[in-house]
Amino acid sequence: MKIKNDLILRAARGEKVERTPVWLMRQAGRVLPEYREVRAKMGGFKELVETPEFACEVTIQPVDILGVDAAIIFSDILVIPEAMGLPYQMIEAKGPWFEKTIKSAADIAQVRVAQAEDLKYVIDAIKLTKKELNGRVPLIGFAGAPWTIFAYMIEGGGSKTFSKAKKFLYTQPILAHQLLQKITDSTINYLKGQVVAGADMLQLFDSWAGILSPEHYNEFALKYISQICDAVKDVPFTVFAKDAHFARKQMGMLNCDTIGLDWTMDVAESRLLIGNNKTLQGNMDPCLLYSDFATIKTETQKMLKAFGPHRHIANLGHGLYPDIEKDKVKCFVDTIKEYRF
Ligand code: CP3
Repeated sequence: MKIKNDLILRAARGEKVERTPVWLMRQAGRVLPEYREVRAKMGGFKELVETPEFACEVTIQPVDILGVDAAIIFSDILVIPEAMGLPYQMIEAKGPWFEKTIKSAADIAQVRVAQAEDLKYVIDAIKLTKKELNGRVPLIGFAGAPWTIFAYMIEGGGSKTFSKAKKFLYTQPILAHQLLQKITDSTINYLKGQVVAGADMLQLFDSWAGILSPEHYNEFALKYISQICDAVKDVPFTVFAKDAHFARKQMGMLNCDTIGLDWTMDVAESRLLIGNNKTLQGNMDPCLLYSDFATIKTETQKMLKAFGPHRHIANLGHGLYPDIEKDKVKCFVDTIKEYRF
């Protein structure tokens, strides 16, 4: 089906656009009262994720309510560890929790490589959402990057330091590589399945990139991201590695279209490091959206100028926070949509 508003796809491919396109990480859920209403009707987060009709509804909400140029499928990066044999729970106000974690070679041997069919509920949600979007805007599919998924599988939940996961890299590097390869193979199967189901674009989230040393990032993270970029080639592909300043030059060499920047990364410096053959995505500090409307407007315009008219997809430098007001988010989106170079 032809997509009516394909600004994001064109920007990703480096084609000319009439204006800078915009979407927001974590736009589905979190800030929308309309999301909370749907969620209240369901048992909880996981039920939402696993019921295609509801996932579809909350995926489309930000397109209707915020006017963003793309939808991102409502799901979570933790569906992959679950499909590999480690089920998760999402604990209210606390976050994810895994009953089983990976500690030994035997645990890794037991973990299976996931197939797209293991995540049929996501595949069905993508198919349904594509149908319901009816070509209005592209649908973004996603997965966690192998290192970030590995970190949750070892740690069993969130952590400030992910030191158990890092300890595993230092003390059992061969086993770490075995698990990372299984995660990578699962992710490739999953992302290919998302494309077959209709995803128009893909993003890899490496949320915990910044806690690795540059050497470890090369050895345990980029190597696997690079395999995924090489394997999944049919739609524009974005890699977002939070806090990975040190890896920007190598990220410019990945076989992908777009690199996501967080708000601590200088735009001009990032462009120099990454080169001209990639689209850059980002990178407003989400906390700007706590300030007043006038400040949001001027700072957003400053950001647009810093990136320039070509090869930019406007976004935040990380996901929206749950207590940001919807009207402030809308101000950010509208400022971008109204801006002309
Ligand atoms: O971008 C979108 O709106 C699509 C949906 C999406 C969710 N999670 C829904 C969600 C996406 C892309 C994710 C990715 C994700 N999940 C990441 C990578 C991006 C990032 O923020 O760094 C990570 C690290 C996770 C793991 C995760 N999921 C955590 C740590 C938590 C608890 C804290 C939180 O974010 O609220 C979640 C839960 C989660 N995932 C919620 C939503 C809407 C909140 C659940 C709820 O209470 O309704």
